[in-house]
Amino acid sequence: MIGQLNHVAIAVPDLEAASAQYRDVLGADVGAPQDEPDHGVTVVFITLPNTKIELLYPLGENSPITGFLEKNPSGGIHHVCYEVEDIRAAAEKLKASGARVLGNGEPKIGAHGKPVLFLHPKDFNGTLVELEQV
Ligand code: CO
Repeated sequence: MIGQLNHVAIAVPDLEAASAQYRDVLGADVGAPQDEPDHGVTVVFITLPNTKIELLYPLGENSPITGFLEKNPSGGIHHVCYEVEDIRAAAEKLKASGARVLGNGEPKIGAHGKPVLFLHPKDFNGTLVELEQV
C-alpha cells in the first residue's frame, strides 16, 4: 500500500541555524521558510536526491511542535511521511486494522497542497506516521 518515503520531518529549536547547517555544512538544496498556519508550523523544505527533509518550527499559540520541543530541547525526528495512491482507501484499511487516525479521521490538505493524515504513534512503534496522497 505505501510507496516512497516522501519526507522525514525534524523539529528544530532554531530554524535559521538548522537551515544554514543543512545548506552550508551538508550542501543541501534548502528552500525558504513557509508559514503553515493551518498546521501551526513554519516549514523549511530540503530537497535530497531521493526524498525530502522538512524542518519544523512552531508557529502560533497551539503549535503541535511546542510540546515536542519542550520534551526534546535539541530537536528531534517528529514524523515520517509515506506516499499512498488513495488516502481514503488507506485510512479505511488502517482503521479496520485498529490503527487510530488522528484528528477527525478525515484527510486534510498538507504542507505540499495534497491530502494527508496522521496515524497515532502508539499504533506504529512509537513513530508518528503521515500518509500523503500523491
Ligand atoms: Co510532514
